[in-house]
Amino acid sequence: MRRPAHLAALALVLLGVGIAAGCGSQGEASPTAETVVGTVPSTTTPGSNVKGNPAAGKVVFTSAGCAGCHTYTPAGSKANVGPDLDKLPEYASKAGEPLVPFTHGAIVSPPPKYVPPGYPTNVMPTTFGQSLSQQQLADLVAFLTQKS
Ligand code: HEC
Repeated sequence: MRRPAHLAALALVLLGVGIAAGCGSQGEASPTAETVVGTVPSTTTPGSNVKGNPAAGKVVFTSAGCAGCHTYTPAGSKANVGPDLDKLPEYASKAGEPLVPFTHGAIVSPPPKYVPPGYPTNVMPTTFGQSLSQQQLADLVAFLTQKS
């Protein structure tokens, strides 16, 4: 079995390189910035760093089934299982939250702080935070909070 010795030798070489790089005479080391290829995982609040597109959000609103439960005039939906989303700004202000985070929160972790009287608080599906991508969520929020 020569392999362990081989690996040990390799480790020693690597160690040697490490020592040389770490303890070399001053001035010799020239650290260079590493270029990150690809995307860096985000640590910010979901949705806050992804730009939403209202037109794409309209498509998600229909395909995700939101229109089956909610009235929302820009989507042409008139269902009333859930609250009328034309009044979202009013709900957000009753909840004491800015419109965008209120809307995002209501979608990814329902129920929101304010639900208008006459509506249940445990019917909105709780799975959209998982089933929709960050982009789809941002698009939905953009669609629901656009001023038109
Ligand atoms: C099965 C019916 C149903 C579906 C599907 C549904 N909702 Fe809801 N939604 C509700 C109900 C009922 C509430 C009231 C709060 C609750 O049940 O948690 C609500 C609440 C909300 C609220 C907060 C309004 C408030 O202040 O109470 C938003 C925003 C919202 N839904 C958006 C959406 C979006 C966007 C989708 C699609 C991704 C969606 N909903 C799909 C039923 C539904």
